[in-house]
Amino acid sequence: MKNNNKIIAANWKMNGSEELMKEFSQLTRAKHNEIIICPPFTLLDTAKTTLPNFIKIGAQNCSEEDKGPFTGEISASMLREKSVSHVLVGHSERRTLFKETDDVIFKKVKASIRSKLTPIVCIGETLSEKEANKTLQTLDSQINGSLAKIEPYAQVIVAYEPVWAIGTGLIPNENEIKETHLYIKTKLNQHFNTDIPILYGGSANSENCSQIISIDNVGGLLVGGASLKKHDFKAICNC
Ligand code: 13P
Repeated sequence: MKNNNKIIAANWKMNGSEELMKEFSQLTRAKHNEIIICPPFTLLDTAKTTLPNFIKIGAQNCSEEDKGPFTGEISASMLREKSVSHVLVGHSERRTLFKETDDVIFKKVKASIRSKLTPIVCIGETLSEKEANKTLQTLDSQINGSLAKIEPYAQVIVAYEPVWAIGTGLIPNENEIKETHLYIKTKLNQHFNTDIPILYGGSANSENCSQIISIDNVGGLLVGGASLKKHDFKAICNC
């Protein structure tokens, strides 16, 4: 069965090339799903000139500042000038490797909204939090810290990515995904006036995508490794 109007987002992380972008230029329109590709900054121009128009372009990070002496940083308004429409904020690799806190993530969400980008805000528990039965507590504090002070009418996407499922081939079972997505949805509904799509991310691939995407309150997928292979990503786009 086809699922209508889901969002399929590709996070290429620090991978990809002009060559790969050319391969992706041959992607044909998925019937129902909205497609977003988030390549590294250096491929944003190529993405704009190469990818078919139905694919939206996202970045993987932005500065919390608009401009100024912040060597090496790229602001949301600079991304906007590159025809970027979405930006990943607070991915677990940024939280862990670059020590981004919920407060920093909140500022980045605000900066992206100021520049009319839609932030895709990533949340998710670590393995030790899961094992300590603290999954919902973690999600609660990440949502409170990064989204509670955002205007209730803002356009935002949330991606639930259990850290232990990223790049491991492990995925939560159906009931776990159901429970976390319902929890996130209920919490977001208390604050936002609009329906916030909640993507699932973590070892999603062409084989499991249809099953995951049909779970209640899963608004789409955020795909890492499998989004770097054209045939796999095409299948995911059409699931
Ligand atoms: P994988 O799909 O490779 O597990 O990565 C998920 C992810 O981190 C997407 O942001």
